[in-house]
This record gives sequence, structure tokens and C-alpha cells, in this order.
Amino acid sequence: MTKVIMHGCNGKMGQVITALCKEENDLEIVAGIDVSNHIVQEYPVFSNIEDCDVEADVIIDFASVKAVEALLSYSTSRKIPVVLCTTGLSQQQEEAVKQAAERVAVLKSANMSLGINLLMDVLKKAVHVLASAGFDMEIIEKHHNQKIDAPSGTALALAEVLNEELEHTYTYQFDRTKERKKREKQEIGIHALRGGNIVGEHEVLFAGTDEVITFSHTAYSKQVFAKGAIEAAKFLKDKPQGLYHMGDVIEAK
Ligand SMILES: NC(=O)c1ccc[n+]([C@@H]2O[C@H](COP(=O)([O-])OP(=O)(O)OC[C@H]3O[C@@H](n4cnc5c(N)ncnc54)[C@H](O)[C@@H]3O)[C@@H](O)[C@H]2O)c1
Repeated sequence: MTKVIMHGCNGKMGQVITALCKEENDLEIVAGIDVSNHIVQEYPVFSNIEDCDVEADVIIDFASVKAVEALLSYSTSRKIPVVLCTTGLSQQQEEAVKQAAERVAVLKSANMSLGINLLMDVLKKAVHVLASAGFDMEIIEKHHNQKIDAPSGTALALAEVLNEELEHTYTYQFDRTKERKKREKQEIGIHALRGGNIVGEHEVLFAGTDEVITFSHTAYSKQVFAKGAIEAAKFLKDKPQGLYHMGDVIEAK
């Protein structure tokens, strides 16, 4: 049985995971952490993570960037692995994640869905053919009107996949309104749209002369992320320290 602490248990993702875990036979939520107490959960909920003294195998996090430092400090001091799903981390926080991973297992993914992680694999191959053939690369993401970070962590991760394959020779362009000039050849445009209750759409567009190739992924419900996080938690239980990714979970299947 994998015992889980749900960090951000009363948020949208926390609620979806709580509901899904009720159907799990080999995983259960033993405690929750949330600053908001508008929901009564069947497990104990702590508003301050440091007050949580419940024994657990892994933490699933879908909370806020404001909570990242306290989360990492709790995870490293109690040696409880963490599936870190909150997006929009600062450079300093990304560095803190790497440092924490030297002491405890940390799995971090901007997008927990199986589909996006497979798309990343496909892009690694496609970019070599298309970039060298002169195709321009643009990423468009669409999310609901409650999302506060832009562009999405997934859009940045997709750009990073492309750029890493191109040995980091490309720059990112988020805003073309400031200067009147043509796009640079070696840039990746990243665009964010916000509206309604769109769960998450990502489109990677390769535009060449007289042809355009588009790779796209659409999430229709938050369950795709929740299921991925639950699989990741089972995978991370008892893993030694280190930085893990969703790709490791897929490979282990
Ligand atoms: N990696 C992925 O696949 C993925 C998928 C969906 C959402 N996310 C990210 O997960 C995060 C949460 O998403 P959501 O839609 O559930 O948001 P949400 O705002 O509905 O929920 C966040 C919850 O965290 C709680 N919280 C805020 N500060 C806290 C603190 N200091 N300590 C404890 N709890 C705190 C809030 O009270 C809230 O209940 C966001 O960063 C979002 O972008 C990631």
C-alpha cells in the first residue's frame, strides 16, 4: 500500500486525485495539506505542512509556487519522496528542486499526462529533420481563464525539448509587439491564450515553405494529470534520491 500526503488537497487537482484514490486498491491518501479549509476531507488536513506528523511514503503536490520551499524542506527533512506538479517555478526554485533531489527522490513534470510525454518523445525525432530543413517553430497553448502563469509550464517544457535537441542554439520569443521586425530564424515563438474552462491544449507548429506540420495534444479533463500523478507516486515510493521525470514512469511500465 502506498501512503500519500496530498499537498494542495482542497484545490481543483487535489479534489480530482482524492476522488480517484477512493478507487485505488494499493494507494491511499493518509493526510492532506491546504491553507484553505472550505472542504471536509475523510483524511486529516493540516494548514501548515510542518504540523503534519502522519507517516507516508510519498507526497503528491498540486498547490502553489508560494508553497514550494516549505514543501521541499519537509520532503528532505523527513525523507519522503515528492511528485512535484505545481508549475510556474522561478529559476531559484528550480535550483532548490535540484538540490532537494540530491537528498530525496523528486519527480517533477510540468505535465503529468501520458500523451504529452509521448509527444515530447516524438518531437525529439521530428525537430532534427524539420529544423535543419528550415522550418520555423511556434508553440501555442490554450488554458482556462483561472490559470495565473503564462505561458504554461508544459509549453516551456515542449520548447525546452526542441531547444535541447538543437543544443540550445534557439532563443524564446514571448512577445512580438515591442519591436517591428521579422522573426529571427533561430527563435521559438511561444503564445498563451486564456479563456473559458479549456483544460489544456498544446500545439507545436513547424512552418516551412508551402507546408505546415502540427503536433497537438488536448486534455479534456483534469483526470489525465491526476492519473499520471497517481502512477508517478506508486513509481516513486522507495526510490533513492534523484531527479525523476514522467518519462521514467512510462519506461518502467
Ligand atoms: N503538472 C501537471 O500536469 C499539472 C496539471 C494541472 C495543474 N498543475 C499545476 O498545479 C497547481 C495547482 O493546480 P490547481 O488547478 O489544483 O490549482 P488550485 O488553485 O485549484 O489549487 C491549489 C490549492 O493549493 C492550496 N494552496 C495554496 N497555497 C498553499 C500553501 N502555501 N500550502 C498549502 N496549500 C496551498 C490552495 O488553497 C488550493 O486549494 C498549479 O500550479 C497548476 O498549474 C500542474
